[in-house]
Amino acid sequence: MDKLLIRGGRRLQGEVSISGAKNAALPELCAALLCAEPLTLDNVPRLQDVATMLALLRRIGVQVERAEDQPARVCLAAGGAIDPVAPYELVKTMRASILVLGPLLARFGRATVSLPGGCAIGSRPVDQHIKGLRAMGATIAVEHGNIVASAGRLRGARITTDMITVTGTENLLMAAALAEGETVLENAAQEPEVTDLAELLIAMGAKIEGHGTGRIRIQGVERLHAPAVPHRIVPDRIEAGTFLCAVAAAGGEVVLRDARARHLDAVIAKLREAGVTVEAGEDWIRVRADARPKAVSFRTSEYPAFPTDMQAQFMAVNCIADGAAKVSETIFENRFMHVNELVRLGAQIQVDGHTAMIQGAPRLSGATVMATDLRASASLVIAGLVADGATTVERIYHLDRGYDCMEAKLRALGADIERVR
Ligand code: EPU
Repeated sequence: MDKLLIRGGRRLQGEVSISGAKNAALPELCAALLCAEPLTLDNVPRLQDVATMLALLRRIGVQVERAEDQPARVCLAAGGAIDPVAPYELVKTMRASILVLGPLLARFGRATVSLPGGCAIGSRPVDQHIKGLRAMGATIAVEHGNIVASAGRLRGARITTDMITVTGTENLLMAAALAEGETVLENAAQEPEVTDLAELLIAMGAKIEGHGTGRIRIQGVERLHAPAVPHRIVPDRIEAGTFLCAVAAAGGEVVLRDARARHLDAVIAKLREAGVTVEAGEDWIRVRADARPKAVSFRTSEYPAFPTDMQAQFMAVNCIADGAAKVSETIFENRFMHVNELVRLGAQIQVDGHTAMIQGAPRLSGATVMATDLRASASLVIAGLVADGATTVERIYHLDRGYDCMEAKLRALGADIERVR
């Protein structure tokens, strides 16, 4: 199994290009199921989760091609025979497989999707996806571990989810695009990835208003088509935020290319509070850290507030900061798995329920640590960049699920980091 070996203590310097967003790519690949014409997506990141989604779509009957000369371009054609089944072997490795449910049901009137189980960061049910599709007229049963759904043409409905759910909003948005009549999604997720999906659907002929707000209105159409020009996936705000935190912790000056600061307002505000200099233009961000950061408290919440997907990485910054900070996680019940590993590196953290108290230490000391989920892995890498001596991060398959060439990008910025077996 691959590991990362990091020798800490180097400042980061230079430029790094941010890849397309994982959490926009996953639903947008599924949007190919909504039309018979081939859909081309640009800026598709090279990640394990994308490979898993492409394997699932191929298994369903979608033809998938990646251009040899343009590896970030993927063409998907769902015009042939379809087997609308997402089996357990694939769903158990990636919960986002649930995103085929809405499109399959809307276009083909049936779908069988293995019910995702719990995962390392929480129980993560999909009851709201099911509730919304039922409100649109689908018949859904859970049998032998599968969600078995069928419907005639879905009907528009007014749907208020019990909580804000990102993939739930995306599933219902895709289903509503082909439903008969108007759907109103109340309490909708406002994440930039949802907005990017809505923009893709609009380019495919969908009638959508209010994306980027808590109320999305969709007038269903009978048919969607390929967009006139390939859709370019929005840059990954979490990858960008991870590099910002890496610089805040390790020190240095880095320019992020293809990064959107306006999607990172809450994270950038906290970095500034920590004493880090951040400047930005339309598609770039410059970050400079000359001194030990100040500890800053924060609380995760839905967009536009501080993202749960940045909690672990910012906690790593707090571990070496000056002062004490309180971090509250409100989205997932078990998203502090990185804490015990950070403690192995010398961090001083106490967890009480959904709150972690961090007392910044002037130094961390390298050790072998184990990645437990995607963002936890990123926080261990950041800690390893600052720790004295060598840090080995094991189980980095978690990191490979969601970061496009992270160690190569960090090495290009001057970090001493290598992949070893
Ligand atoms: N929830 C329910 N029922 C539902 C749906 C959600 O109870 O039917 C609960 C969840 O258990 C959780 C909360 O609602 O407590 C929010 O979950 P949400 O549905 O928004 O999460 P998700 O759609 O499964 C996406 C991202 C996650 C990210 C969360 C929150 C994708 C593919 N995944 O997950 O990304 O943490 O939104 O922003 O978009 C990651 O990239 O590392 C990652 C975990």
